[in-house]
Amino acid sequence: MRKINGIIAMLVLVLFVVHGILGALNMMNIATVIVKVLSRTMLSLIVVHAVLSIILTVRSVRTAVKTKAPYFRHNRVFWARRLSGILIMALVFFHMTAFGYTSGGVFRLVPFDVFRLITQILFLLSVAVHIITNVKPVLITFGVKRLRPKAGDILFFVSVAMLFMAAGFIIYYIRWQL
Ligand code: HEM
Ligand code: HEM
Repeated sequence: MRKINGIIAMLVLVLFVVHGILGALNMMNIATVIVKVLSRTMLSLIVVHAVLSIILTVRSVRTAVKTKAPYFRHNRVFWARRLSGILIMALVFFHMTAFGYTSGGVFRLVPFDVFRLITQILFLLSVAVHIITNVKPVLITFGVKRLRPKAGDILFFVSVAMLFMAAGFIIYYIRWQL
């Protein structure tokens, strides 16, 4: 189950980078490529990933309680991985309602105010924490050797993409003020 969860999580990561870059280009008014199938597929995969991850977490906690592992409660990274996942789940609601809604077959934009900007940046930050804390575990799941350089490559690429996404939200906010 861990391997399947790892494969799904990596798929989500790829879709996230593609959706985020397209979304940022959209918000910067550079290109208007809206691929709804992509965002919906990503969301469904995230739900599957969250369910599998919760099952895996319950198993880990049970094993730790059984073996009375003394370090368990102090494993901060373990909890950071879970907390950031739950935060993503909560904040995705604010993301999906940040841009617009359809009523009577007409798509209406909602003003992108400061509240929406802050929730989108928090959303991006929780994804960043989740990726930073999970890069090494997922490479271990796939049995990758020489973890450090590989994790570094992935984190560099994802960081650049996510800074671009943050710029997208900020430029979109500024465009609403003009
Ligand atoms: C876990 C991460 C994310 C998930 C699950 C997600 C999911 C979604 C979903 C479900 C929609 C609604 C589209 C629809 O009506 O079908 C959407 C829209 C949108 N997202 Fe994201 N998103 C994520 C991250 C991001 C990021 C980081 C950006 C910023 C660059 C972004 C930019 C946009 C934009 C601009 C839209 C509105 C335009 C459109 O409909 O494509 N998304 N997203
Ligand atoms: C942008 C969306 C997301 C991405 C890119 C992502 C990515 C990942 C990756 C790469 C892993 C490591 C898997 C492994 O160790 O084999 C992971 C683990 C985990 N994720 Fe996510 N995830 C996302 C959303 C979520 C959400 C919404 C939750 C909600 C509960 C969540 C909860 C977890 C948990 C609890 C683990 C640890 C599972 C374990 O190995 O015991 N993730 N995630």
